Amino acid sequence: MRAIRYHEHGDPDVLRVDEVEKPIPSDGEIRIEVKAAGVNPVDTYFRDGSYQPFTLPMVPGVDFAGVVDEVGSEVTEFDAGNRVFGTGLGNDRYGGTAEYVTAPTDRVAHLSDGVSFVEAGAAGVAAVTAWRAIVDHAALEPAEYCLIHGGSGGVGHAAVQIAAASGARVVTTASEQYHDTLSDLGARTTLDYRRDDLQSAVVEATEGGPNVVVDHMLERYLQFDCDVAAPYARIVLFRNRHLEAGFTNVPAAGGKELQFHLMSMYNAPRLADPLSRVDRLLADDLLRVDVAGEYGFDEVAEAHRRVREESFLGKLVVVP
Ligand SMILES: NC(=O)c1ccc[n+]([C@@H]2O[C@H](COP(=O)([O-])OP(=O)(O)OC[C@H]3O[C@@H](n4cnc5c(N)ncnc54)[C@H](OP(=O)(O)O)[C@@H]3O)[C@@H](O)[C@H]2O)c1
Repeated sequence: MRAIRYHEHGDPDVLRVDEVEKPIPSDGEIRIEVKAAGVNPVDTYFRDGSYQPFTLPMVPGVDFAGVVDEVGSEVTEFDAGNRVFGTGLGNDRYGGTAEYVTAPTDRVAHLSDGVSFVEAGAAGVAAVTAWRAIVDHAALEPAEYCLIHGGSGGVGHAAVQIAAASGARVVTTASEQYHDTLSDLGARTTLDYRRDDLQSAVVEATEGGPNVVVDHMLERYLQFDCDVAAPYARIVLFRNRHLEAGFTNVPAAGGKELQFHLMSMYNAPRLADPLSRVDRLLADDLLRVDVAGEYGFDEVAEAHRRVREESFLGKLVVVP
């Protein structure tokens, strides 16, 4: 089979199309014929050596969608021919950017018939991170105000929709060209993150401060989050490559008795559980994953370059 691999860390041009043996599913694993594999910033961190994958040469790609091709022993919940999607690969095991991939069943969910492989292949990290932030950590309630930084991002646009689907009032930040689409996706207010008066604009749009903040740039917004938040707000932060972040005014945070949740998608006890809920949202048209570009195997380097360097709304996907 064909697989994208990098044999050493480096720029996107270290990615090659290699001919390799089809993987064999172990106990508790299934093999999937991949129909689509999302491209995420984290794939590039493993590729460039910022994060260390378990081995080299390595197949990148956290996310995948496709058809079950073979099941290992002790697998009861999947059969050959099932449509599935999943996430959580490309780190401690080979990733999804290959014609076939094996995955433990606790990182895979069934995919409803009406949901396309491309959309599901793009959903994984983005939608599960958004789900965990809003549902598992923030426990967002209907009619609360939720601020989502960077609403046009992969995680951001999923978070806007999941928060809106829960009945919350969503305020997000994004570049100007995405404001109309984010309004279609459920944002009540979208503010350009470059505004000089962003802080007062957020406070005004949330009638005094958001009850929940979802922040993917804590190195930049941690104090901002404290300054705008309503008393007792929950602030959910997810880890990224920056090692440092901090408060410049601790009493401002302490005075509001804020709760901080630092999370990583990989810590989910069972990724299959949020994935199953994401499938239902996709099937019920409460969530759509916008795909800004599809790439063949010979174009994966361009997708890795674009996901780091260019602005677009939603996700990029590799289609074998
Ligand atoms: N630890 C975890 O579990 C986990 C899981 C998922 C993601 N992450 C991390 O979270 C980050 C976002 O992931 P993603 O997949 O959504 O990335 P993405 O698709 O590249 O989105 C990044 C978003 O940030 C926006 N942005 C850029 N500068 C901004 C600013 N100053 N203020 C507000 N927004 C700004 C971008 O908008 P423009 O394009 O208009 O500039 C873009 O919409 C990445 O660092 C990723 O590695 C971590």
